[in-house]
Amino acid sequence: MLLRVDVPVADGLLASVPLAMGGRPSPFGLDPRDADMALRMLTDGSCPPLEFAGVHAHLASGLAAPELAAAARSVAAWADDLARRHRVPLRELDVGGGMAVDYGDPDARFDWVGYGAALARLADARPELRLRVEPGRALTAYCGWYATDVLDVKHSHGEEFAVVRGGTHHLRTPAARGHSQPCHVLPVADWPHPWPRPPGRPGPVTFVGQLCTPKDLLARAAPVPAVRPGDRVVFAMAGAYAWNISHHDFLMHPHPTVHHLDV
Ligand SMILES: Cc1ncc(COP(=O)(O)O)c(C=O)c1O
Repeated sequence: MLLRVDVPVADGLLASVPLAMGGRPSPFGLDPRDADMALRMLTDGSCPPLEFAGVHAHLASGLAAPELAAAARSVAAWADDLARRHRVPLRELDVGGGMAVDYGDPDARFDWVGYGAALARLADARPELRLRVEPGRALTAYCGWYATDVLDVKHSHGEEFAVVRGGTHHLRTPAARGHSQPCHVLPVADWPHPWPRPPGRPGPVTFVGQLCTPKDLLARAAPVPAVRPGDRVVFAMAGAYAWNISHHDFLMHPHPTVHHLDV
């Protein structure tokens, strides 16, 4: 088994990270001071079926490759010390996920090549070690879209707001991280209602949902062309921590339909 430890890292390394689970006081993983006791229990016969294989650390989400590699080096050095103190081999090291995703620049990608090269150097120095990573967001964020339509467009104190069918109870990612979800407006010609279609409003437009909270905000001042009620809006980068982290039943609105595309 691997011991998950909140391994200490260099001061400041995780300071500007949007989501840090470690390298600081945290409920995730063992406190480093408890790791010795845990390892002793695995080696003195107190937990017979369990065998120490190594260390697991997932310290933060949203790190660029150089910072993530620096965190991995800290984890490896700390795990080396632990194993050395207890005179046991370090067979596995899981350095977690946390590869950055830039919601402000949908074309940007994490530097997998640079990170891989840094991990290869780490592994070359420890030929007996099995090194694992656990990528999450950076693999799947680009694989999902949230499509909805505009119910109303409102002008308020000099700003335009488009209220969409749905909101952060379907896609909580922007509210959870405090970003604007990248979006595109697909103008729709049809207007199925008997009353006249309200005129379009030019961007920038803030896209909000149907919930009774100002936190139900999907994208602030998005630079889109004119938006009219009935238009489609497609939010990109909705393939990670989207529906599955959302508070689905807030105000009991219907759930969205999920379509899996074979592309
Ligand atoms: C233990 C563990 N590993 C990996 C991940 C994936 O992180 P990310 O999506 O930032 O790559 C998470 C996410 O919370 C996690 O808790």
